[in-house]
Amino acid sequence: MSIRLDQTVPFGRSLREYESMFSLSAADRRSRILDCAAGPSSFNAELTAAGGDVRSIDPLYQFGGAEIQRQFFSTLDRVIEQVRATPQNWIWSYHRDPDDLRRNRIAVMEQFVADYSGGAGTGRYVCGALPNLPFGADRFDLALSSHFLFLYSDHFDAAFHLEAIRALLRVAREVRIFPLLALRAERSQHLDPVCEQLRREGHHCSIERVGYELQRGGNEMLRLRRA
Ligand SMILES: C[S@@+](CC[C@H](N)C(=O)[O-])C[C@H]1O[C@@H](n2cnc3c(N)ncnc32)[C@H](O)[C@@H]1O
Repeated sequence: MSIRLDQTVPFGRSLREYESMFSLSAADRRSRILDCAAGPSSFNAELTAAGGDVRSIDPLYQFGGAEIQRQFFSTLDRVIEQVRATPQNWIWSYHRDPDDLRRNRIAVMEQFVADYSGGAGTGRYVCGALPNLPFGADRFDLALSSHFLFLYSDHFDAAFHLEAIRALLRVAREVRIFPLLALRAERSQHLDPVCEQLRREGHHCSIERVGYELQRGGNEMLRLRRA
């Protein structure tokens, strides 16, 4: 077992991590992007500052920045301890070691909080939860979802994953999901049945190797294109 959690953890990743998790090109960075299950990631803050067009959605955005920060710090050390206790499950390339991971997660959280209330005011941070997305069809070119779908496969069943992915494909013609491992560091049990069903519906699904790996073996993303 890699990480044991009762609920999703409000940890966020940086723009540079998103770029390598999702193999983002310069053209992708200029497109209209939805970050779904965005949590306290600094992706929106950093890409907006660089001229990008990003909306983030997460049920966490029902809370203010101080409460999100409190929830983050209440889980941080427990997760880092579990990482230290399972050294065989982690690849230290982007982050140097568990201490560096801890520092980087705090830096991302601080960048998120600095951007959050202003960004929420202009509609860049939207409170909402899959499978219900309060956006019109084709509102985005690209939807990204990192560290929620497939990762929490023991908390959310295949039917939820299918409904969630169909919702993402309604608002964006292309969807990318990373990683494809569940928390127990094995490929999600929902991946094959969900892809088979989506292919039957005419959607295009491919599994692609990416340049990011923190969970050992977690270096693949799912790319979906609408039928
Ligand atoms: C581990 S965080 C990932 C944050 C960000 N995507 C990243 O990789 O940095 C997982 C997020 O999933 C969110 N979440 C939980 N249930 C959700 C749902 N039904 N729809 C969308 N997001 C959800 C949690 O609030 C949490 O912020």
